[in-house]
Amino acid sequence: MNVLLLGSGGREDALAWRLRQSPSCETLIAAPGNPGIARWAECVPVDPCDPAAIIALAEGRAIDLVVIGPEAPLVAGVGDALRNAGFAVFGPNAAAAQLEGSKGFTKDLCAANAIPTAGYVRVETAAAAHDALKGFGIPVVIKADGLAAGKGVTVAMSREEAEAAIDAAGDGPMVIEEFLSGEEASLFALVDGVTAVPLASAQDHKRVGEGDTGPNTGGMGAYCPAPVLTAELQQRAMDEIVIPTAKAMADAGTPFSGVLYAGLMLTADGPKLIEYNARFGDPECEAIMPLIKGDFAELLLAVATGRLGEAHPKLSANHSMTIIVAAQGYPGTPTSGGLIREIEAAEQVPGVTVFHAGTARSGDALVAKGGRVLAVTAIADTFANARARAYRAVDQIDFADGFHRRDIGWRELERSGENALAGE
Ligand code: AMP
Ligand code: GLY
Repeated sequence: MNVLLLGSGGREDALAWRLRQSPSCETLIAAPGNPGIARWAECVPVDPCDPAAIIALAEGRAIDLVVIGPEAPLVAGVGDALRNAGFAVFGPNAAAAQLEGSKGFTKDLCAANAIPTAGYVRVETAAAAHDALKGFGIPVVIKADGLAAGKGVTVAMSREEAEAAIDAAGDGPMVIEEFLSGEEASLFALVDGVTAVPLASAQDHKRVGEGDTGPNTGGMGAYCPAPVLTAELQQRAMDEIVIPTAKAMADAGTPFSGVLYAGLMLTADGPKLIEYNARFGDPECEAIMPLIKGDFAELLLAVATGRLGEAHPKLSANHSMTIIVAAQGYPGTPTSGGLIREIEAAEQVPGVTVFHAGTARSGDALVAKGGRVLAVTAIADTFANARARAYRAVDQIDFADGFHRRDIGWRELERSGENALAGE
């Protein structure tokens, strides 16, 4: 197959790395790619959100499968345009990507299909939001509608904070919802429009600071699997959340095809949906890819062509951890241009791959370009060993402008009773 991958982050570097290992993947092209992806693919400077340019590229290079990494091209309808032009696409059409793009859409779908989620009210104006707030207890959650990259969500611990969040959200559509307590975990399911099968579970750390403090980020680290999502809970999440969603989307004439990322709260009453994403998580994808067995390009093609029922995605029994190295200033304005060295030394640690999230070439040097810069990933036989390897690798990297969290996986460490510093 000739495969075209859209995107330029750490997630896409991991996808490219995994696709490159697929026996069925002959040519791999990335648009636009990054210096890490350039290790596995030919990078071409084409805008992934420009449907006409992507179609021209796919036609020119006789592409058999297009894999869409980030949400922006999905919401922009690049999947629709490619499908209309006859290409096999991994990633949903815009109508199905609303599961990520519109919180109100997803909440209404849950309500109509008895899918467990937090109770909510959807409003169109700030005045209606203030009014609706009276019907909720505290804490309460305020969500601006639309793509907000983890922003636009306030978990308000007082009524004053909730009122302020409504005012700060502006006078647009909002969702106000009941606060759910429990532990969060993510389930990644492949869906081909009809069939939905679980691929992997993971947990990430969204806050920038140790102890899960400070502002939200795209994610500072992740690990796979998430043992807290037991086989029984995963089955419940498939049966009660993912499969009914896939069926509802298909029944509505807007079938979902791609990877459905369910952000779950594991409550005392079982798993409840917090949100959907219509793509792999970043950095969860970096943690998942090294554990996938079999021909990955073939698996994605099976999803794209509605043959998922014949495919049997399997993960290895290993554990993986990804630690993000970010540029100082992230998630505010990150310092750009900092010199990065010793990635090769980090990759000498067994089981380690360093994915590029935000890097650029400057002459012979590699420099930072973006907030999240590297996604250092390790696999091993146990969670503690994967973690120890990942930190050993991070410690090899010479990036004076960078920072990372030392406590990725703390919940799992506490649970497992394994020594946080084992093997470090
Ligand atoms: P979202 O963008 O919807 O995933 O929300 C971002 C974060 O806010 C989630 O990862 C949760 O930590 C938190 N959150 C969102 N909704 C709720 C809820 N109903 N109850 C508790 N926490 C929530
Ligand atoms: N790591 C969270 C996300 O990709 O949305």
